[in-house]
Amino acid sequence: MRARAISAVHLLLLLSLSHSPPCTMAGKILVWPADFSHWFNINVIIEELVARGHNVTVVTHSATSSVKTEQSQGYNVEIIQVPYTKQDVFNTLDTMFKYWVNEVPNDNLIQGFLKIKEIIDQTTYKNQVLCRELFAREDLLEKWRKERFDVVLTDPMYMCRSLLPLKLNLPFIVSLRFSFGNSMERLCGQLPTPASYVPAVSLGYKHRMDFLQRVKNVLFNFFQDFLFIFLNALKWDPFYTEVMGKPTTLCETMGKADIWLIRTYWDFEFPRPLLPNFKFVGGLHCKPAKPLPKEMEDFVQSSGDDGIVVFSLGFMIKNITKERANTIASALGQIPQKVLWRYTGEKPETLAPNTRVYDWIPQNDLLGHPKTKAFITHGGTNGIYEAIYHGVPMVGLPLFADQPDNVNHMKTKGAAVMLDFNKMNTEDLKQALNDVINNPSYKESIMRLSRIHHDQPMKPLDQAVYWIEYVMRHKGAKHLRVEAHNLTWYQYHCLDVAAFLLSVIALVVFIFVKTCKWLFRKCCRKTAAKSKKE
Ligand SMILES: *[C@@H]1O[C@H](CO)[C@@H](O)[C@H](O)[C@H]1NC(C)=O
Ligand SMILES: *[C@@H]1O[C@H](CO)[C@@H](O)[C@H](O)[C@H]1NC(C)=O
Repeated sequence: MRARAISAVHLLLLLSLSHSPPCTMAGKILVWPADFSHWFNINVIIEELVARGHNVTVVTHSATSSVKTEQSQGYNVEIIQVPYTKQDVFNTLDTMFKYWVNEVPNDNLIQGFLKIKEIIDQTTYKNQVLCRELFAREDLLEKWRKERFDVVLTDPMYMCRSLLPLKLNLPFIVSLRFSFGNSMERLCGQLPTPASYVPAVSLGYKHRMDFLQRVKNVLFNFFQDFLFIFLNALKWDPFYTEVMGKPTTLCETMGKADIWLIRTYWDFEFPRPLLPNFKFVGGLHCKPAKPLPKEMEDFVQSSGDDGIVVFSLGFMIKNITKERANTIASALGQIPQKVLWRYTGEKPETLAPNTRVYDWIPQNDLLGHPKTKAFITHGGTNGIYEAIYHGVPMVGLPLFADQPDNVNHMKTKGAAVMLDFNKMNTEDLKQALNDVINNPSYKESIMRLSRIHHDQPMKPLDQAVYWIEYVMRHKGAKHLRVEAHNLTWYQYHCLDVAAFLLSVIALVVFIFVKTCKWLFRKCCRKTAAKSKKE
């Protein structure tokens, strides 16, 4: 009787538990995002956090053109005044494109290196100005300390972000695709990256590498680590030390991150070892398609059975050279599909009637449209994930940053054709589109990736939010941080242990040899003496 009563109480308890919302307190979150496509990605997380009742404060600067600062967004905004304008930021970007897309590919190694160095110097300079402005605001830091945030969410694309949680003594979460070709994750996050089967970012290798590729992989990692360490030692470690008032490095500070939210997943990555505090949430911004605007839908429907091709080089590429635009437009004119091209530059003369140019396209809705046959993309992570989500094969025209690596992943997985934007001719592009649309292997490959993407225990966005709330519930996630953070390099590789064991073996061998020699000598002497006697 009693047992039954207890089990009834249990049942009631269980029922009431399963009906109450999961036990999450509304928390306070401080977000310091980066701009442009990085903002787009983190904004999706912010919206979800706001929808779940969390109190979110976003830190931005007066020259941002990404972060919406109206009250209606549902989050609080703190704007840091910087002595440069939106236009300055765009000018830096324009220089970057001019160099990276149009000039560096034709430069020799030295010229190219100097131009890339100039771009890095310019962005680092702007970034440090912003950091200086923020950390000079003692009043603001004091206010934030009083407001008692639970966690800081930030994007380490701009390097000084990890100082903020340290100054406020808060746990923090970083969101990134990769930083410095994995060097930050490897060196600061302690993410194991065996060079034998984890190809370096931007080499374009598969996880199965032959001997020479492994040699290059090891050397490339060394080279990238060297640059990363050198750049930090030169530009960031002194800044970190200055702000903290004691010797501090960027890498040790990044290493304190509680959770790393990486913007990829196994639909994209090759299998590799992970750490408990690395969570892969690629494609968290992807959503089912919404209906298209009427005019656009009519155009799409007019394509009949041939379907459409969606083309975008991202919102940052506003203009390309006349010659490139004409090459592209005449290739597009030679395919039976209709093409929707997002492009704000001058209309190319060779534009054919099957191609329409738009200032802006609802990319996700177009990629999710049943008539879409292919996606021509610069290979930004966001666009690649929309294509994976909706299962659309790609022609990649990567330009810079993570784009070549992204497209390479899709190419090695059989879901994309990659072309060199600067060198391709009309025939190349036409051929690539024909292949991707008419050779079923591309569609099959991207559908396979799409199935992998959708078959997860938790949607990527839910997972990202789960881990943020997890850090708030546990006041950090230091219990997921490996001890490797506290080891020296020779301890990490057990070189001290190896040295010790080798010494022991050497000692044993030494004693053994010595003993043998001694015994042998003794024996010899005895037999010698014996034979003498006889
Ligand atoms: C959210 O946090 C801000 C800053 O701490 C505070 O001023 C505001 O009252 C909070 N809003 C709610 C709804 O708790
Ligand atoms: C695009 O660049 C060309 C030069 O390559 C220039 O003549 C044209 O004005 C630019 N158009 C826009 C809209 O920026």
